[in-house]
Amino acid sequence: MITLNIPIPGHEYDILIENGLLDKTGEKCRDLLHHDAKVFIITDVNVAPLYAKRVADSLTSEGIINHTIILPSGEKTKSLYYLESVYMHLTDMKVTRNDCIIALGGGVIGDLAGFAAATILRGIDFIQIPTTLLAQVDSSVGGKVAVDLPSGKNLVGAFYQPKLVLTDSSVLETLNDREFAGGMAEVIKYGCIYDKPFFDRLAVMNNRSDVMSDIEEVIKTCCSIKADVVTKDEKEQGLRRILNFGHTLGHAYELAYNYEKYIHGEAIAAGMNIAARIGNILGITDSETVCRIKNITETFGLPASIECSLEDYERAVSLDKKAEGSSVTMVLVPEIGKTVFKAIEQKELIGIIEKAEEIK
Ligand SMILES: NC(=O)c1ccc[n+]([C@@H]2O[C@H](COP(=O)([O-])OP(=O)(O)OC[C@H]3O[C@@H](n4cnc5c(N)ncnc54)[C@H](O)[C@@H]3O)[C@@H](O)[C@H]2O)c1
Ligand SMILES: [Zn+2]
Repeated sequence: MITLNIPIPGHEYDILIENGLLDKTGEKCRDLLHHDAKVFIITDVNVAPLYAKRVADSLTSEGIINHTIILPSGEKTKSLYYLESVYMHLTDMKVTRNDCIIALGGGVIGDLAGFAAATILRGIDFIQIPTTLLAQVDSSVGGKVAVDLPSGKNLVGAFYQPKLVLTDSSVLETLNDREFAGGMAEVIKYGCIYDKPFFDRLAVMNNRSDVMSDIEEVIKTCCSIKADVVTKDEKEQGLRRILNFGHTLGHAYELAYNYEKYIHGEAIAAGMNIAARIGNILGITDSETVCRIKNITETFGLPASIECSLEDYERAVSLDKKAEGSSVTMVLVPEIGKTVFKAIEQKELIGIIEKAEEIK
C-alpha cells in the first residue's frame, strides 16, 4: 500500500492507494471516526451496484452504522437541488456533528458530497473514495468542493479537506475507455507542468493497459504533484494556477459545445495543445514540446484540437477567473516539466489563437 501524507497545516490527512482497498474501508476509517459516528455513503447509480455494498459491508464488519444515499449520475447532480435532497436525507436519518460522509464516486459525487459535509451542521467529517481516474488524480486532492449554479460551474463551494482518501486502483477496471482517457489528460498535464521524468515514462506507454500495469505509481505521482502545489498555495493565490495548464482555452471548448459533446479531459487535452502552440508562437515553447504534447494526447485517444469559433474563444477568455482587467494570464510550458505565466491582452490573445489554429 502506498501512503501519501498531505501536510496541509491544521488539516493533515493521508491518501492511501492500493488494489482492493475498498474492502478495508472500515478498518482504515475506524480510528478516524468519532466513537458513535454514523457513516453516510453518498454515491451514484452507476457506482452503487458495483461498489457500495463492499464499502458498506466493510464498515458494518467494524461495527460502524452506515446508510447509503444513491444519486443520479452526471454533472446535473452537482446542483442545489440534489444538495438539498442530500441535506434532507441526512436530517431524516438524524445526522449529528459526530457523523461522517463518505463520497464514493467520481468528481461529481466528490464535489457534491464534500460540499454537503462542509456545510451540514456547519461541517462534519468527510472521507473520499474516488472511483474515476480523474477523481483519483485530481478532484480528490486539494480540498475544493462545490456545486454548480445554472449560471456556471462550481459557483457555490468551499475549501474543505477530507479526513482520509482511500484510492482503490482496481475500481478503474469498470470505467469506460472514454472516461479513462479523460483522466489521462490530467495525468499528462502533471507531467507537462512539473515532472519531465514522469512525462517521459508516460510517453513510452502505448495504451490503457500499459498505464494500468503501473497505475498505483501513476496515481501517487499525480497526487504528490497536486499535493505539493496545493500545500504551497492552499487558497489559489499563485503557484496553484499552474494546474490550470490547458484549462483556460479548454473551457472554451466545453462552453462552445455546451458541456455536451466533449468531456472535460478531452477539452483539456485540446487546451494543452493550443496552449503549446500559442507558447511556440510567442517564442516561449520549443517545437519539440509542442510535438510531444500532440503525440502523447493522440496516443491516449484524446483530441489534439477541437473546432471552436473565435467568438467562443472570446467568450471563454472574458469569463476566465484568471482574467485581470483586459488581460488573461495563460500558463505556458516552455519545455516539458516547466511553466511560466504570461499575461496577454485579450485582443492580442485572440489574434495569436487565430495563428495557432492555422498551424495545428
Ligand atoms: N474538486 C476539484 O478539485 C475538481 C477537480 C477536477 C474536476 N472536478 C469536478 O469533477 C467532476 C468530473 O468528475 P469525473 O470526471 O470523475 O465525472 P463523474 O463523477 O461524472 O464520473 C464519470 C462517470 O463515470 C461513472 N463512474 C464513476 N466511477 C466509476 C467506476 N469505477 N466504474 C464505472 N463507472 C464509474 C459515473 O457514474 C459517471 O457516469 C466535474 O464536476 C468537475 O468540476 C473537481
Ligand atoms: Zn481539469
